[in-house]
Amino acid sequence: MPNKYFYINTIGCQMNVYDSEQIAARLVGLGYQQTGVLEVADLVIVNTCTIRAKAEQKAFSFLGRLANLKIKNPGLIIGVGGCVAQQEGEKILRRVPHIDLVFGTQAIDRLSLLIPKIESKRCRVVDVGLTEKPVRPAARPDRRPDGLVSTFVTIMRGCDNFCTYCVVPHVRGREVSRHPDRIMEEIRGLVQSGVKEVTLLGQNVNSYGKKEGLCSFPELLARVNSIEGLQRIRFTTSHPKDFGSSLIDALKTNEKVCDHIHLPVQSGSDRILNRMNRKYTRELYLDKIAELKDTCPGIAITSDFIVGFPGETEADFNETLGLMEIVKFDGLFAFVYSDRPNAPAVQFKNKISEAVKKKRLQTLLELQENFTRMKNQALVGCVQPILVEGTSKKQFSGSINHPQSAVQWTGRTSTNKIVNFYHNDNPQSGADIFSGKIVLTKIEKAYAHSLWGKPVEVKSATGGRKGEESYAA
Ligand code: 5AD
Ligand code: SF4
Repeated sequence: MPNKYFYINTIGCQMNVYDSEQIAARLVGLGYQQTGVLEVADLVIVNTCTIRAKAEQKAFSFLGRLANLKIKNPGLIIGVGGCVAQQEGEKILRRVPHIDLVFGTQAIDRLSLLIPKIESKRCRVVDVGLTEKPVRPAARPDRRPDGLVSTFVTIMRGCDNFCTYCVVPHVRGREVSRHPDRIMEEIRGLVQSGVKEVTLLGQNVNSYGKKEGLCSFPELLARVNSIEGLQRIRFTTSHPKDFGSSLIDALKTNEKVCDHIHLPVQSGSDRILNRMNRKYTRELYLDKIAELKDTCPGIAITSDFIVGFPGETEADFNETLGLMEIVKFDGLFAFVYSDRPNAPAVQFKNKISEAVKKKRLQTLLELQENFTRMKNQALVGCVQPILVEGTSKKQFSGSINHPQSAVQWTGRTSTNKIVNFYHNDNPQSGADIFSGKIVLTKIEKAYAHSLWGKPVEVKSATGGRKGEESYAA
């Protein structure tokens, strides 16, 4: 049988990256091999995202470009999966005539039936069934992530929160958690194959296990913390309404849990938070941040913001800027509000003009730049334990002042800041001397989005308590 190749384009969040692995495993099971070269593929899958209008446009523009490939190779099968597929369903077949398959967020397991059907009958297939009954997330397919230092592990899927701007509950279905034993098995397997850091993934990890009566998220963290050989644990995303003392304690007591939390606030105005259906107030958010900073000094806090939500006044926006001044986030993601189909805010009046949204976004990002710089600058002169992820794309090949070429390495602090450093080993040797190791690095320079350091000491595989190795030099 001739070799058959598949190519996957993954757009959007880490959940999609994880899903793409699952898709890939099903395709391998059908006798396909993965390729990074689009032109040689017999099957192209686009795993799409619809969280904001831009992500959806990206998917359709990629799909449009596949028309030429299909003309050159009429046997090519093109499939669209993920959130746009779930949202648009059959409409995609009408909009993009060269597509063969539309499969929703809960149809990945059925690919093993859908693809052979298309192969044999050359028909067009749509499978976007979304049950209200939660569908348990499948375990990660067996694979050996060669050389992978850090990876994601889905602990739950879907969302029950129904923020009024958000499409996720409509395209991903209701919240459902994986059994902790399955999660532990998966992480143990990953650690055996060399992974040192996992990021536990869920739309709202704070409500992990609640519905099913499994263990709580802090209990899960304690269990994962006990896995020998695992160095670091991260998690995302936490909803502020469910974030509280027990998770704050877990951050403090579990030495492998990193000093970083992503706690999306979206707005600093109570009026807007209420219209967003976020179920917390500005005061409550700030109280939780205060408790967090009190219990875990040095923790890095990042957030998400939406500017220009329908009805957002200058006064509301100023409340957001005021909240930023109080919290001083280490970093943030900010988005201009975009209408999403099925999300209730589509119907809200007083939409904000694109020009005002853009201006507010710029103001917010400029303010944040100061805080990010300040936080990064504060680390200069300190020694930080870095988990090295590998060599950096940018390499140094020598200069007049520094004739020896050097390998540039990259890793992260426990607080999730990227640190790059050189080491004068022989780049030709190809020896991977740092990947997966904790390297104590003296921070020498702070940039807008990364730090520059100098290695001081390489720690053994089992690090000590988090932050303990960190000291001001
Ligand atoms: N418009 C703009 N931003 C959005 N987000 C979610 N939905 C929208 C929308 N309709 C942002 C939120 C969320 C992040 C993942 O994407 O800030 O936390
Ligand atoms: Fe969307 Fe809100 Fe659920 Fe997050 S918590 S996925 S913003 S509905």
